[in-house]
Amino acid sequence: MKWLGILGLVALSECLVIIPLTKMKTMRETLREKNLLTNFLLRNNGRTRSQNVAHDPKLSLHPLRNYLDLAYVGNISIGTPPQQFRVVFDTGSADLWVPSTYCDSVPCYTHNVFNPHVSTTFRLSGFTVDLTYGSGRMVGFLGYDTVRIGKLVDVVQPFALSKAQFGLEHAPFDGILGLGYPSLAIQGTTPVFDNLKRRGVISQSVFAFYLSTQKENGSIVMLGGVDDRYHKGKLQWIPVSRPHYWQITMNRITINGVAFGCCRGCQAIVDTGTSFLVGPSRVITAIRRLIGARLVDNEYAVSCSYVARLPTIIFSINGNDYPVPPQAYIRKSLRGKCLSTLTGGTENISRSETWILGDVFLRLYFSVYDRGNNRIGLAPAV
Ligand SMILES: *[C@@H]1O[C@H](CO)[C@@H](O)[C@H](O)[C@H]1NC(C)=O
Ligand SMILES: *[C@@H]1O[C@H](CO)[C@@H](O)[C@H](O)[C@H]1NC(C)=O
Ligand SMILES: *[C@@H]1O[C@H](CO)[C@@H](O)[C@H](O)[C@H]1NC(C)=O
Repeated sequence: MKWLGILGLVALSECLVIIPLTKMKTMRETLREKNLLTNFLLRNNGRTRSQNVAHDPKLSLHPLRNYLDLAYVGNISIGTPPQQFRVVFDTGSADLWVPSTYCDSVPCYTHNVFNPHVSTTFRLSGFTVDLTYGSGRMVGFLGYDTVRIGKLVDVVQPFALSKAQFGLEHAPFDGILGLGYPSLAIQGTTPVFDNLKRRGVISQSVFAFYLSTQKENGSIVMLGGVDDRYHKGKLQWIPVSRPHYWQITMNRITINGVAFGCCRGCQAIVDTGTSFLVGPSRVITAIRRLIGARLVDNEYAVSCSYVARLPTIIFSINGNDYPVPPQAYIRKSLRGKCLSTLTGGTENISRSETWILGDVFLRLYFSVYDRGNNRIGLAPAV
């Protein structure tokens, strides 16, 4: 248990104000923490199915494909007759875009492209767009057309057609469908979810994600309601702190009983379009040191035989604890290496401490996005 020694020092540097250097833990305390997730799941398991089992005919369950636990991608079509695309259903952005026949960049030759000339329902808007994401960038123009997501038909939907794309050559998706708030979208455009609601295609202003682990099949985005068979126990509701991203206030992050980050409270963005857990670099560096992750070929690796002994990271949000065990925050690469999914860099997003709870978190916790009440629901996934 080498990392226990470092713990006090790191904790001091991060959370000096609130947490004094704590004593070493007894074996019983350590064991108790290891069992924390199990207990949490058991405790919630016994409860009855919750309130809003939706038998709403307007509720659509749409399958997503899990690409190596890195991206969750679903099919949509645009135009008349329909042209099919694979898109990331992304709560961390609010625009819809796909590659187009006007695009000359390499990624556009390896992905499906939209041809506006063969769609009888396409309407052009001259507006130029430039969208940057963590994984790449697209430049293009706006148009309107009919978008189909399974049985849901979304007419006169604004979307962007790419003319150039950067850094998306190997993406297992063609485009992105954003589910963030309208303020995050290209000025003056209506995001897909808002248009579906406005036109009465869905009745409840709610959507939800179930992200499966490792299995390629089984992940689902629900639009217009919640199918409660995909979570255990009651949904815990958390108010949205700023309706732009799906952003909430987090109370603290604890490891081995010591507050480790977010010491005075902080902000967290719940983002299905981010694969990992992202936080301020200084805290991430401290956690990597704690778990003994070493830089190998540009990635932080731990010994696979050590994973089960690493500590659980506990995210406390709105009075509830959301444990993330090492088996969730360490991923196995295709070459069999055990890599940390803890990623630094949020200091460049916002000046206040911000975390991004990506797919690593959302595989453990089924998530509901309630636009009607500006709140996020979380419960252990089945
Ligand atoms: C998307 O469509 C393709 C081709 O029709 C199909 O093979 C694939 O399974 C679909 N993906 C999902 C997630 O339904
Ligand atoms: C996923 O589903 C598709 C179509 O339903 C099937 O062809 C494929 O074999 C399934 N993959 C796995 C890993 O179960
Ligand atoms: C954040 O911004 C600083 C200054 O622009 C830069 O040096 C640093 O590399 C950035 N960090 C990340 C993780 O992007």
